[in-house]
Amino acid sequence: MGLPTLLERRLVIVTGKGGVGKSTVTAALALLAARSGKRVLVCEVNAQERIAPLLGAPAAGHATRQARPGISTVNVTPPDAMREYGLMVLRFRTIYEAVFENRVVKYFLRVVPSLAELVMLGKILHEARTEERGRPRWDLVLVDAPATGHAVQLLRVPSALLDTVPGGPLRHDAEWMEAMLVDPAQTAIALVTLPEEMPVNEAIELDGQIREVLGMPRAALFVNAMPDARFTPEEAALLAPLAAAAPPLGPAAQAGRLQALRAEQAGRYLARARAALDLPTCVLPLLPIAEWGPAAVEEIAAAIAAAPPGSLA
Ligand SMILES: Nc1ncnc2c1ncn2[C@@H]1O[C@H](COP(=O)(O)OP(=O)(O)OP(=O)(O)O)[C@@H](O)[C@H]1O
Ligand SMILES: [Mg+2]
Repeated sequence: MGLPTLLERRLVIVTGKGGVGKSTVTAALALLAARSGKRVLVCEVNAQERIAPLLGAPAAGHATRQARPGISTVNVTPPDAMREYGLMVLRFRTIYEAVFENRVVKYFLRVVPSLAELVMLGKILHEARTEERGRPRWDLVLVDAPATGHAVQLLRVPSALLDTVPGGPLRHDAEWMEAMLVDPAQTAIALVTLPEEMPVNEAIELDGQIREVLGMPRAALFVNAMPDARFTPEEAALLAPLAAAAPPLGPAAQAGRLQALRAEQAGRYLARARAALDLPTCVLPLLPIAEWGPAAVEEIAAAIAAAPPGSLA
């Protein structure tokens, strides 16, 4: 699958281990989608807001704000989602009242143990399916999802509800939410990992849960922060005896050896991720940028555009 196919979905959910580059990849995908003429909403999930700053815009707070032409951002939090989505769509007024009356609280919490996840996911999916004047409000809703386990917890809520709630409005909402999540024409998950042992292990485990627990369509793997293979094996072998030389040659040769080792290891973890995940894969470079921000996101977007998922053998 190429990039256009990924971004043709109405809902693209980006997840992976903490710190692997989820927000960066999400922001870069938003740029590429907006440049192809799409109206994009990027949702962060109860997060320390990252996307607007990564796009060069001031933090948006909890409101839906335009960060750039064609890209709006929103940080979805439980209280806001509860108010906006809950009262509007899930008919939570009764539930609110029930909670405040404290009569069915126990029952309700048993049925909906993940209320925060439910309202946040509900708000996001509602944005993704809302039509205005005969066209979708957003061409693409990109979700900068929480890390691994929290993402599964979030995305599992509708199917968990379907297992426990026999009928009524809650079940009805869980039904359309679940239908949207598992529909490959509408939805895709993009996994992000680093070419390192723990992130790759976690990505493989997460992928298993997406297939077996969530039953959701996975569409792409982004292997982020790949070091350059700067030295051939022959060159790397030449560096070893130089490492004992006087400065600056010795330390430089030692740094070169470490870089060569790191690149070689990264290559093995990339191969492992590719073999285990069997997904269209896009490799993104390790960038020597100290101030991570819009310039870095531009470079990552350029790398994705140059090597869209699926184009790399
Ligand atoms: N390609 C890259 N090259 C160099 N550094 C990178 C690269 N991608 C990400 N980073 C570094 O990793 C940091 C984390 O990236 P990012 O915020 O996108 O990750 P995340 O997965 O969203 O993290 P979190 O789980 O905390 O939300 C960045 O601030 C940057 O310093
Ligand atoms: Mg992030």
